[in-house]
Amino acid sequence: MKLLSRKVTCNSHGQDSSYFLGWQEYEKNPYDELRNPSGIIQMGLAENQLSFDILESWLAENPDASGFKRNGESIFRELALFQDYHGLPAFKKALAEFMEEIRGNKVRFDSNKLVLTAGATSANETLMFCLAEPGEAFLLPTPYYPGFDRDLKWRTGVEIVPIQCYSSNNFQITEAALEEAYQRARKQNLRVKGVLVTNPSNPLGTTLSRQELNLLITFISAKGIHLISDEIYSGTVFNSPNFVSFMEVLQNLVNTNVWNRVHLVYSLSKDLGLPGFRVGAIYSNDKMVVATATKMSSFGLVSSQTQYLLSALLSDKKFSKNYIFENQKRLKKRHSMLVIGLENAGIKCLKSNAGLFCWVDMRHLLSSNSFDAEMELWKKIVYEVGLNISPGSSCHCSEPGWFRVCFANMSEDTLDLAMQRIKAFVESKLTNKSCNFRTPCHHHSIKNSSARKSLTKWVFRLSFHGYENER
Ligand SMILES: Cc1ncc(COP(=O)(O)O)c(C=O)c1O
Repeated sequence: MKLLSRKVTCNSHGQDSSYFLGWQEYEKNPYDELRNPSGIIQMGLAENQLSFDILESWLAENPDASGFKRNGESIFRELALFQDYHGLPAFKKALAEFMEEIRGNKVRFDSNKLVLTAGATSANETLMFCLAEPGEAFLLPTPYYPGFDRDLKWRTGVEIVPIQCYSSNNFQITEAALEEAYQRARKQNLRVKGVLVTNPSNPLGTTLSRQELNLLITFISAKGIHLISDEIYSGTVFNSPNFVSFMEVLQNLVNTNVWNRVHLVYSLSKDLGLPGFRVGAIYSNDKMVVATATKMSSFGLVSSQTQYLLSALLSDKKFSKNYIFENQKRLKKRHSMLVIGLENAGIKCLKSNAGLFCWVDMRHLLSSNSFDAEMELWKKIVYEVGLNISPGSSCHCSEPGWFRVCFANMSEDTLDLAMQRIKAFVESKLTNKSCNFRTPCHHHSIKNSSARKSLTKWVFRLSFHGYENER
């Protein structure tokens, strides 16, 4: 007789995916400039470490916030006892206003429609519990964030049906792809309950176009289903076209039928770079969803001291405005460093304007047009070149040869070294000469190369003209 549940033995958690395996390889041999200079550089982690100094300065100037104090008086006892799952009103208000600021104040968020959760992970799963039964399905455009297999399916029993998107139109969502996925689900006897998109997209780093937003609204309206928009990267949009939230689209919609069927997910893990704090949220116009998700949030609350600290931080409007602006500026610079560095190695990226990563086209480096060849190339890049990047197959991409490469979780010098390694690797493939990719010889260094020069020029232009002119 089995004593353990099926959850223990089933493998739908997805931890065997190459996405997570790459992290394990990195953990065994992590790069460190001094202690392990030939170790693996972690480029598979969508972390934002670019603006910690701004947060740290604020903390130094506002010691009460992290010291459990209000106007110099201790509020330790108040925080220690607080356990209302509706969340601290001051924090919810500050978070709602921060979300408005990110959307250029074109959208109003009512904090009564906001549910706090332990990160977007918990927000997405909670929405699945609220919107679908086990065995029902959500449609997701490919490529998608590998964690969704765990977050949406594992504990809920909900199924994911991919909406196949292709490089031929830059992986945009089309009416035909939506309809095809819907019909495929029906053929598998799966009842479709909704579509889930990430906007801006992980892993593409692009924002949904007006055309795609309208298409999705029309689709869910016609089918009578839900739409979840995971807008966890909304504050990372560093270039045009501007980010348009589904909430903005809803505001201008005459047909209010879909109002209650569009649900937003947000988190401070990416925009503020605080995944360790576990702060996420659901925003919905559906009262029942808000009430149920609030009750469910008991299983993944945000601790009271975190709420207290962040309510002080986010309600400082001068800080939040400046943070968003400066963080986007830094992301833009990093993004350019990666794009130019890869270009210098003959590798192209999908044109993107957001996120902490690029979607990189390495199809020309595959030995054949297959996912086996993608795995073979990935292993070489991890073990020989010493870069942990995420293969497209782990994001359920429909074409082999694409990789997600992160740029905001390391120093500029480390990114520079990563670019030298990849350049050395590509050149060795072209010349059939092997060299030690992990500590590339001088001629691979981009320090004196034209790429470095154009980057320096670009950075100069940015600081000279000011950021606004560049957007
Ligand atoms: C699209 C997307 N949703 C959700 C998450 C999970 O975020 P959190 O740390 O807030 O749980 C991530 C993290 O990478 C993500 O990329």
